[in-house]
Amino acid sequence: MNPYYILDTMAISAGVHKSFDCTDCHNSEYKTYPHKSDLKLQPLSTCLDCHGGDASFAKYKFEEIEKEFKKSVHFKVYGEYFNCSKCHSQHTYVATARNSTNVLDIVDYNNKMCLSCHNDMKKYKLVSGHANPKLVVIHDWLPNQELHFRHVRCIECHTEVRDSLMVSHNILSKDHASKKCAECHSANSKLKASLYKYQNLQKRTEKGTISSLLTNSSYTIGTHQSPLLKLLSILIFLAVLSGIIIHSIFRIIKKKK
Ligand code: HEC
Ligand code: HEC
Ligand code: HEC
Ligand code: HEC
Ligand code: HEC
Ligand code: HEC
Repeated sequence: MNPYYILDTMAISAGVHKSFDCTDCHNSEYKTYPHKSDLKLQPLSTCLDCHGGDASFAKYKFEEIEKEFKKSVHFKVYGEYFNCSKCHSQHTYVATARNSTNVLDIVDYNNKMCLSCHNDMKKYKLVSGHANPKLVVIHDWLPNQELHFRHVRCIECHTEVRDSLMVSHNILSKDHASKKCAECHSANSKLKASLYKYQNLQKRTEKGTISSLLTNSSYTIGTHQSPLLKLLSILIFLAVLSGIIIHSIFRIIKKKK
């Protein structure tokens, strides 16, 4: 069988549509084998067909996501052919950014959605008709590229941040991508409005704003806190302080004499 048609059943049983039968989405005639060839041509439901206007999914804002997506480069170049399923597998999708508290997991899951095509020569060519530009070369202005790709999502630099949406869907053309280091490496990082959005909200409701500002390590990006160095600096501080105190005590004792 074409390896492309062999599905990862583990991933399906972890996905949001795990409770579905295959034939809830695919034609029931697929139950007979060999399948009729014209079944392939039948259109499948899109995300909006099922989720659009449904109050029980309102928090995901499907309609607003669709509106934003229609402004993105992908839709502008390829139109309806570039549908939601190009990024989201209906078989295996898991709403990660919303539910995971581990930033590295979120980054990994989200970036794989882009890389599944941008790093796959065949799939990219199928969509565009030409070879994919090498991501490593395009981004060679970024120091520590590998570290960055593990810690930030593609969409951080390539989308317009929308406060009302959990995940921005308007992917801008490359000349609007952010290249400015300070947008992330500053106390007022743009990552707080995107990647760390949910984490911050959660932490704030749990602890109250002031204590979360003091303890939340995401507040300055790129400053690694090493527990060992922190301990060492406290020890040095204490040593200096005790040095001063001992010195002062001896001065006072000597003066009295
Ligand atoms: C929630 C709806 C849904 C369910 C449930 C579902 N599928 Fe799909 N399936 C789709 C969509 C949509 C596509 C087309 C994907 C695309 O456009 O790239 C698809 C594509 C496929 C393909 C073509 C290869 C691919 O991945 O694009 C195969 C094979 C397939 N499905 C088999 C299955 C089997 C077997 C099951 C049950 C275990 C199943 N599907 C359950 C929606 C579903
Ligand atoms: C055939 C109809 C159908 C299609 C097509 C479909 N969904 Fe769903 N989806 C559902 C149903 C029904 C549920 C609720 C499943 C459950 O509760 O077990 C669901 C659940 C979800 C959930 C979890 C909601 C929650 O809070 O539990 C998300 C997220 C989701 N779908 C996203 C998508 C995305 C993104 C697409 C397009 C790539 C899509 N769905 C396509 C019917 C569909
Ligand atoms: C270019 C790729 C891409 C396309 C196209 C795309 N999405 Fe997404 N979408 C993402 C990424 C990346 C995420 C973040 C995944 C995560 O961590 O849950 C996401 C998340 C979502 C979520 C979860 C948002 C939340 O609040 O938790 C929904 C719902 C969704 N997309 C719907 C859609 C719909 C509907 C379409 C088509 C109109 C679409 N997406 C097209 C990349 C895409
Ligand atoms: C730190 C910000 C940043 C991150 C993270 C980032 N990019 Fe980029 N990307 C840029 C900038 C800036 C450009 C424009 C470079 C130029 O024109 O010199 C660009 C260019 C591109 C291009 C245009 C290629 C071309 O020349 O046609 C693609 C495609 C792209 N990026 C995809 C991705 C993907 C996929 C990821 C995630 C794995 C990603 N980017 C992560 C900033 C980023
Ligand atoms: C199914 C394949 C596919 C997926 C998935 C995909 N892209 Fe693309 N993307 C393309 C193709 C094809 C182009 C080339 C468009 C063109 O010819 O201008 C492109 C173009 C781009 C560009 C460059 C636009 C320009 O100005 O040249 C950026 C940036 C980009 N994608 C980012 C992303 C990000 C971020 C994701 C994940 C959220 C993603 N893409 C997911 C196929 C894909
Ligand atoms: C999209 C946000 C973003 C942009 C833009 C960005 N960075 Fe980063 N950078 C990060 C994150 C997140 C990390 C990882 C921080 C961590 O591990 O705590 C990082 C890590 C680094 C590190 C490694 C720091 C260390 O302690 O190891 C360097 C150096 C760095 N960035 C330099 C730059 C430079 C120079 C630019 C501009 C060309 C830039 N970054 C642009 C988000 C960004």
